[in-house]
Amino acid sequence: MTGRGRFITFEGTEGVGKSTQISNAAVTLQGLGVECVVTREPGGTPMAEAIRELLIAPRDEPVNDLTELLLMFAARAQHLHTLILPALDQGQWVLCDRFTDATFAYQGGGRGVPSERIALLENLVQGDVRPDHVVLLDAPVETGMTRARQRGQLDRFEQEAVPFFQRIRSTYLARAAAEPDRYNIVDASAQLAQVNAQVSELMCNFRSDLL
Ligand code: TMP
Repeated sequence: MTGRGRFITFEGTEGVGKSTQISNAAVTLQGLGVECVVTREPGGTPMAEAIRELLIAPRDEPVNDLTELLLMFAARAQHLHTLILPALDQGQWVLCDRFTDATFAYQGGGRGVPSERIALLENLVQGDVRPDHVVLLDAPVETGMTRARQRGQLDRFEQEAVPFFQRIRSTYLARAAAEPDRYNIVDASAQLAQVNAQVSELMCNFRSDLL
Protein backbone atom coordinates (compact mmCIF):
# COMPACT_ATOMS: atom_id res chain seq x y z
CA MET A 1 0.00 0.00 0.00
CA THR A 2 2.74 2.51 0.89
CA GLY A 3 5.66 1.04 -1.05
CA ARG A 4 8.63 -0.42 0.73
CA GLY A 5 9.18 2.30 3.31
CA ARG A 6 7.04 2.78 6.39
CA PHE A 7 4.85 5.81 6.90
CA ILE A 8 4.75 6.90 10.55
CA THR A 9 2.84 9.95 11.75
CA PHE A 10 3.03 11.80 15.06
CA GLU A 11 -0.09 13.41 16.43
CA GLY A 12 -1.32 15.25 19.50
CA THR A 13 -2.69 18.55 20.75
CA GLU A 14 -0.52 21.68 21.04
CA GLY A 15 2.72 21.53 23.05
CA VAL A 16 2.86 17.76 23.64
CA GLY A 17 6.46 17.51 22.36
CA LYS A 18 5.96 16.16 18.84
CA SER A 19 9.10 17.80 17.40
CA THR A 20 11.29 16.43 20.17
CA GLN A 21 9.87 12.94 19.73
CA ILE A 22 10.17 12.96 15.94
CA SER A 23 13.87 13.84 16.29
CA ASN A 24 14.23 11.10 18.87
CA ALA A 25 12.47 8.60 16.58
CA ALA A 26 14.68 9.58 13.62
CA VAL A 27 17.86 9.14 15.66
CA THR A 28 16.66 5.73 16.89
CA LEU A 29 15.77 4.54 13.40
CA GLN A 30 19.01 5.84 11.88
CA GLY A 31 20.85 3.91 14.62
CA LEU A 32 19.08 0.79 13.34
CA GLY A 33 20.24 1.55 9.78
CA VAL A 34 16.89 2.85 8.57
CA GLU A 35 16.96 5.78 6.16
CA CYS A 36 14.30 8.30 7.18
CA VAL A 37 12.78 11.52 5.93
CA VAL A 38 11.34 13.90 8.53
CA THR A 39 8.56 16.17 7.35
CA ARG A 40 5.43 17.94 8.58
CA GLU A 41 1.86 18.97 7.77
CA PRO A 42 0.54 21.32 6.78
CA GLY A 43 3.75 21.84 4.80
CA GLY A 44 6.69 19.70 3.80
CA THR A 45 7.27 21.17 0.30
CA PRO A 46 7.73 24.84 -0.67
CA MET A 47 4.18 25.13 -2.02
CA ALA A 48 2.61 23.26 0.89
CA GLU A 49 4.61 25.46 3.31
CA ALA A 50 3.11 28.52 1.57
CA ILE A 51 -0.36 27.07 2.18
CA ARG A 52 0.64 26.47 5.82
CA GLU A 53 1.42 30.18 6.22
CA LEU A 54 -2.04 31.02 4.86
CA LEU A 55 -3.61 28.61 7.33
CA ILE A 56 -1.85 29.47 10.57
CA ALA A 57 -1.53 33.28 10.25
CA PRO A 58 -3.83 35.07 12.69
CA ARG A 59 -6.24 37.23 10.68
CA ASP A 60 -9.23 39.52 11.27
CA GLU A 61 -11.27 37.94 8.47
CA PRO A 62 -13.24 34.94 9.77
CA VAL A 63 -12.01 31.73 8.14
CA ASN A 64 -14.75 29.49 6.78
CA ASP A 65 -14.50 25.87 8.00
CA LEU A 66 -14.64 24.52 4.45
CA THR A 67 -11.88 26.88 3.29
CA GLU A 68 -9.69 25.64 6.11
CA LEU A 69 -10.49 22.01 5.33
CA LEU A 70 -9.80 22.34 1.61
CA LEU A 71 -6.51 24.17 2.19
CA MET A 72 -5.39 21.37 4.53
CA PHE A 73 -6.09 18.82 1.82
CA ALA A 74 -4.59 21.01 -0.94
CA ALA A 75 -1.34 21.13 1.04
CA ARG A 76 -1.62 17.38 1.70
CA ALA A 77 -2.11 16.48 -1.98
CA GLN A 78 1.06 18.38 -2.89
CA HIS A 79 3.05 16.94 0.00
CA LEU A 80 1.85 13.37 -0.45
CA HIS A 81 2.38 13.15 -4.19
CA THR A 82 5.64 15.06 -4.50
CA LEU A 83 7.45 14.08 -1.31
CA ILE A 84 5.91 11.31 0.81
CA LEU A 85 5.02 8.71 -1.83
CA PRO A 86 8.27 9.08 -3.81
CA ALA A 87 10.28 8.66 -0.57
CA LEU A 88 8.30 5.56 0.45
CA ASP A 89 8.75 4.12 -3.05
CA GLN A 90 12.51 4.52 -2.65
CA GLY A 91 12.34 2.49 0.56
CA GLN A 92 12.77 5.42 2.94
CA TRP A 93 10.73 5.69 6.10
CA VAL A 94 8.70 8.87 6.37
CA LEU A 95 8.23 10.42 9.81
CA CYS A 96 5.53 13.04 9.49
CA ASP A 97 4.55 15.64 12.10
CA ARG A 98 0.74 15.39 11.74
CA PHE A 99 -1.34 14.00 8.88
CA THR A 100 -5.04 13.33 8.23
CA ASP A 101 -5.75 12.31 11.83
CA ALA A 102 -5.12 15.98 12.63
CA THR A 103 -7.85 16.93 10.14
CA PHE A 104 -10.35 14.56 11.78
CA ALA A 105 -9.31 15.94 15.18
CA TYR A 106 -9.03 19.70 14.44
CA GLN A 107 -11.48 20.31 11.59
CA GLY A 108 -13.77 17.44 12.65
CA GLY A 109 -13.70 17.37 16.47
CA GLY A 110 -12.54 20.97 16.90
CA ARG A 111 -14.54 22.85 14.27
CA GLY A 112 -17.44 20.40 13.93
CA VAL A 113 -17.03 19.45 10.24
CA PRO A 114 -18.84 16.10 9.74
CA SER A 115 -16.32 13.26 9.56
CA GLU A 116 -17.98 11.86 6.39
CA ARG A 117 -16.95 15.04 4.56
CA ILE A 118 -13.38 14.65 5.73
CA ALA A 119 -13.38 10.97 4.76
CA LEU A 120 -14.54 11.94 1.26
CA LEU A 121 -11.52 14.21 0.78
CA GLU A 122 -9.24 11.66 2.42
CA ASN A 123 -10.24 9.09 -0.21
CA LEU A 124 -9.98 11.60 -3.04
CA VAL A 125 -6.51 12.85 -2.11
CA GLN A 126 -4.96 9.71 -0.66
CA GLY A 127 -6.68 6.78 -2.33
CA ASP A 128 -5.91 3.91 0.04
CA VAL A 129 -2.77 5.48 1.52
CA ARG A 130 -2.93 5.61 5.33
CA PRO A 131 -0.11 5.84 7.88
CA ASP A 132 1.31 2.42 8.80
CA HIS A 133 1.67 3.58 12.39
CA VAL A 134 0.33 6.59 14.26
CA VAL A 135 2.12 7.72 17.43
CA LEU A 136 -0.35 9.72 19.51
CA LEU A 137 1.39 11.86 22.12
CA ASP A 138 -1.32 12.39 24.67
CA ALA A 139 -1.31 14.89 27.55
CA PRO A 140 -3.92 16.98 29.37
CA VAL A 141 -4.75 20.01 27.23
CA GLU A 142 -3.65 22.52 29.90
CA THR A 143 -0.15 20.99 30.14
CA GLY A 144 0.44 21.34 26.41
CA MET A 145 -1.06 24.81 26.17
CA THR A 146 1.26 26.11 28.87
CA ARG A 147 4.20 24.81 26.83
CA ALA A 148 2.80 26.27 23.58
CA ARG A 149 2.34 29.70 25.21
CA GLN A 150 5.95 29.66 26.38
CA ARG A 151 7.10 29.33 22.75
CA GLY A 152 5.98 32.90 21.99
CA GLN A 153 3.36 34.38 19.66
CA LEU A 154 0.33 32.13 19.21
CA ASP A 155 -0.79 31.12 15.72
CA ARG A 156 -4.45 31.08 14.56
CA PHE A 157 -5.06 27.59 16.01
CA GLU A 158 -3.18 28.13 19.27
CA GLN A 159 -5.40 31.16 19.94
CA GLU A 160 -8.44 28.89 20.35
CA ALA A 161 -9.89 28.28 23.83
CA VAL A 162 -9.42 25.16 25.98
CA PRO A 163 -12.71 23.38 24.99
CA PHE A 164 -11.60 23.38 21.32
CA PHE A 165 -8.46 21.41 22.30
CA GLN A 166 -10.43 19.14 24.62
CA ARG A 167 -12.63 18.10 21.68
CA ILE A 168 -9.48 17.53 19.61
CA ARG A 169 -7.93 15.37 22.31
CA SER A 170 -11.13 13.30 22.66
CA THR A 171 -11.30 12.78 18.88
CA TYR A 172 -7.69 11.57 18.76
CA LEU A 173 -8.31 9.18 21.67
CA ALA A 174 -11.50 7.83 20.07
CA ARG A 175 -9.69 7.18 16.77
CA ALA A 176 -6.86 5.43 18.62
CA ALA A 177 -9.33 3.27 20.55
CA ALA A 178 -11.10 2.26 17.33
CA GLU A 179 -7.89 0.97 15.71
CA PRO A 180 -5.49 -0.09 18.48
CA ASP A 181 -3.15 -2.01 16.15
CA ARG A 182 -2.27 1.05 14.10
CA TYR A 183 -2.33 3.67 16.87
CA ASN A 184 0.16 3.86 19.74
CA ILE A 185 -0.74 6.15 22.62
CA VAL A 186 2.23 7.58 24.51
CA ASP A 187 1.73 9.44 27.80
CA ALA A 188 3.39 12.74 26.89
CA SER A 189 2.89 14.14 30.40
CA ALA A 190 5.45 11.66 31.80
CA GLN A 191 9.12 12.58 32.43
CA LEU A 192 10.97 13.32 29.19
CA ALA A 193 13.33 10.35 29.64
CA GLN A 194 10.33 8.04 29.91
CA VAL A 195 8.64 9.49 26.81
CA ASN A 196 11.93 9.19 24.88
CA ALA A 197 12.29 5.56 25.95
CA GLN A 198 8.75 4.68 24.97
CA VAL A 199 9.01 6.28 21.53
CA SER A 200 12.41 4.65 20.88
CA GLU A 201 10.97 1.28 21.86
CA LEU A 202 8.08 1.76 19.45
CA MET A 203 10.53 2.48 16.61
CA CYS A 204 12.52 -0.67 17.47
CA ASN A 205 9.28 -2.68 17.39
CA PHE A 206 8.18 -1.24 14.06
CA ARG A 207 11.59 -2.14 12.65
CA SER A 208 11.54 -5.67 14.12
CA ASP A 209 8.08 -6.29 12.67
CA LEU A 210 9.66 -6.10 9.22
CA LEU A 211 12.63 -8.40 9.91
P1 TMP B 1 1.75 22.28 14.21
O1 TMP B 1 1.33 22.94 15.48
O2 TMP B 1 1.86 20.82 14.36
O3 TMP B 1 2.95 22.89 13.59
O4 TMP B 1 0.55 22.45 13.13
C1 TMP B 1 0.01 23.68 12.80
C2 TMP B 1 -1.45 23.75 13.15
O5 TMP B 1 -2.22 23.17 12.10
C3 TMP B 1 -1.82 23.02 14.42
O6 TMP B 1 -2.48 23.94 15.26
C4 TMP B 1 -2.79 21.96 13.97
C5 TMP B 1 -3.31 22.44 12.66
N1 TMP B 1 -3.72 21.39 11.73
C6 TMP B 1 -5.07 21.22 11.47
O7 TMP B 1 -5.91 21.95 11.99
N2 TMP B 1 -5.46 20.24 10.59
C7 TMP B 1 -4.57 19.43 9.95
O8 TMP B 1 -4.95 18.57 9.14
C8 TMP B 1 -3.15 19.62 10.23
C9 TMP B 1 -2.15 18.76 9.55
C10 TMP B 1 -2.80 20.59 11.14
